[in-house]
Amino acid sequence: MIDKEKFPHSQMFVNELESLNDRFIIPQIKTMIKRFGNDYIAFLEKILLLASKSSVSSVDAILDFTASLLKEQVRFKQTERYSRESFSEVYDEVYNNPDVMEGFYLDGLLLTQACWEIHYHIHRFFQNQFLPQCKGKKQGIEIGFGHGLYLYEILQQSQNSRERIRVYGVDISQYSLKYATRLLKQSFSEKLFTLAIGDIQNELNFPEQSMEFGLMPEVMEHIQNPDHALLRMRRCLKPDSPLYVVTPMNSNAIDHITNFQSVEEIEKLVISAGFAVETKEIFSIKQFQPESNDATETFVAVFRAI
Ligand SMILES: C[S@@+](CC[C@H](N)C(=O)[O-])C[C@H]1O[C@@H](n2cnc3c(N)ncnc32)[C@H](O)[C@@H]1O
Repeated sequence: MIDKEKFPHSQMFVNELESLNDRFIIPQIKTMIKRFGNDYIAFLEKILLLASKSSVSSVDAILDFTASLLKEQVRFKQTERYSRESFSEVYDEVYNNPDVMEGFYLDGLLLTQACWEIHYHIHRFFQNQFLPQCKGKKQGIEIGFGHGLYLYEILQQSQNSRERIRVYGVDISQYSLKYATRLLKQSFSEKLFTLAIGDIQNELNFPEQSMEFGLMPEVMEHIQNPDHALLRMRRCLKPDSPLYVVTPMNSNAIDHITNFQSVEEIEKLVISAGFAVETKEIFSIKQFQPESNDATETFVAVFRAI
């Protein structure tokens, strides 16, 4: 089913998972191949190539990342609370911890984009609804860039259309900074991107209305004051700029501290910061795995700065 001449990394990855008797990732990969064919396999190949530059095995990273999430979701089912409440605890145990960030988190999260159906659908939403809006823009910013894939896609699009865009990113973790810098440097000149360490809970030091698009994917559930963070983001965007937001609900993880429980709650927060909803979708684990007990739903949207 995979053309191993064309997609050698994908074939090896699937073989290795099969040899480990994996029953979680392989069925999802098979479903995506059936539905999206070579478009999907080409994306899987790209993600595996990007991840192959790290010292961690991709199979270990995706299995460890998935196991950590499933464990937290079992706990959530029992307690109905997120395991972590304080940001400083998460900072010490996750973002500032090389065993977690470099051990499995950054590679694992990158790989989920092609290995989990929910994340692949979210990525397709990004490619169809947000990425085209970055065309013709001069500069934009992502908060919490993690592995750096979203910025990579934006730079790749501008390179393909021979435009010159500049992207900025701020992340709290020195390990995200190291990982995303290496990922972007693989394909792009350092003149095209500026990544820095920063805490969106305290500041976002860019001039007012200096950016033409913004991204906050999988960040609001990680911080204590998402309303302030959104206001900081709104301040540095020009009116009419698109903002890409991804926020899971009822989804425990080793670094989630704010549990959003409804789409209305998230929308209200973003709208109060000076945005209007443009396009939105909700993806749930149950939609892809009806037998699952996992209550995770993820709100994905493009807002517009007003
Ligand atoms: C789940 S990852 C999201 C990565 C990527 N944006 C994505 O959607 O796949 C969350 C990222 O937000 C960063 N982060 C968490 N709290 C932050 C804060 N207060 N300020 C800036 N970045 C933060 C973490 O270091 C991590 O890289």
